Amino acid sequence: MIHAESGHDLAMTDGEFRMFAELLRTQCGLHFGQETRFLLEKRVNRRMEQLSLTNYAAYHYELRHASRHDGEMAQLIDDVTTNETYFVRERGQLRALMGEIFPEVLMQRRERGGGPISIWSAGCASGEEPYSIVILALEAGYEPDSDFRVYASDISRRMLRKARQGIYRQSSFREMEGSLRERYFEEKDGSWKISDEIKRCVDFIHINLMERSKIALLGAMDVILCRNVIIYFDPASKRKVIETFEHKLRPGGHLLLGHSESLINISSSLELRHLQTDLVYRRPVMGLSTPDPWHAAAQAAIDKVERTS
Ligand SMILES: C[S@@+](CC[C@H](N)C(=O)[O-])C[C@H]1O[C@@H](n2cnc3c(N)ncnc32)[C@H](O)[C@@H]1O
Repeated sequence: MIHAESGHDLAMTDGEFRMFAELLRTQCGLHFGQETRFLLEKRVNRRMEQLSLTNYAAYHYELRHASRHDGEMAQLIDDVTTNETYFVRERGQLRALMGEIFPEVLMQRRERGGGPISIWSAGCASGEEPYSIVILALEAGYEPDSDFRVYASDISRRMLRKARQGIYRQSSFREMEGSLRERYFEEKDGSWKISDEIKRCVDFIHINLMERSKIALLGAMDVILCRNVIIYFDPASKRKVIETFEHKLRPGGHLLLGHSESLINISSSLELRHLQTDLVYRRPVMGLSTPDPWHAAAQAAIDKVERTS
């Protein structure tokens, strides 16, 4: 395909769109349908322009043959992922985490002579989520290392660099109290830098949630937050990721999804738990399973609709 001199804004053919959508689905679980076709087209075009490539097939070849981790695929993934995040996002859920899950899990771990609570922010983007957890835990009187440890991962290397740097603009603080920002950040040239005290409590690691080998390097988790990440995945990829989490969670461990996400039609291995300020999922403890009646009823209704359609 020859492109006009002036740029790369020519539309993809249906076949080219399918080729790129399928590649991104298999590499990182992301789903691009007709409703997001424009976005994919735009991002691919922009990248091709930067590489002075004028042919979709040539770029697709480059993507498949460059090293997945450091090559062109990583660049495109950086470009097509949605990285929107901010401090103390979905406050009610974080309140449930600090006020109900933390004390309960910590007590159980102490009874069994276990170490700190392990928390994994899977799909942490620029780090606001894991840093919020650390700040709220410190505010609640918990001690880093002895009470909790936070791991945070993302597929985007650009986002991880930003998270490790820990410098944020005003928009990241839209939900955080000014007093917390004053206490844990330092202002410099209109941005805010997170204190080293908070930074050292988070281990950032590059993980593609579709690749189980790297995830195996993390130990068992008490809490996994995967919020506003699999919402962009196709159903099969969602199932694969949730299955990975099911194995990664200790019995009784919790999975926190974003508010618009649920496991209905994805998995029934985790039980839904009603906490005071939110709903969360939990890996059942053998012999102590408490199936949630709402979840079971919703699942039965969906199954019925699917059988009759
Ligand atoms: C919208 S952000 C969510 C950030 C944060 N969890 C929150 O709720 O505010 C979604 C993040 O998921 C990451 N992501 C998308 N696909 C991924 C994959 N296959 N493996 C790991 N991270 C992925 C993106 O790079 C992006 O930073």
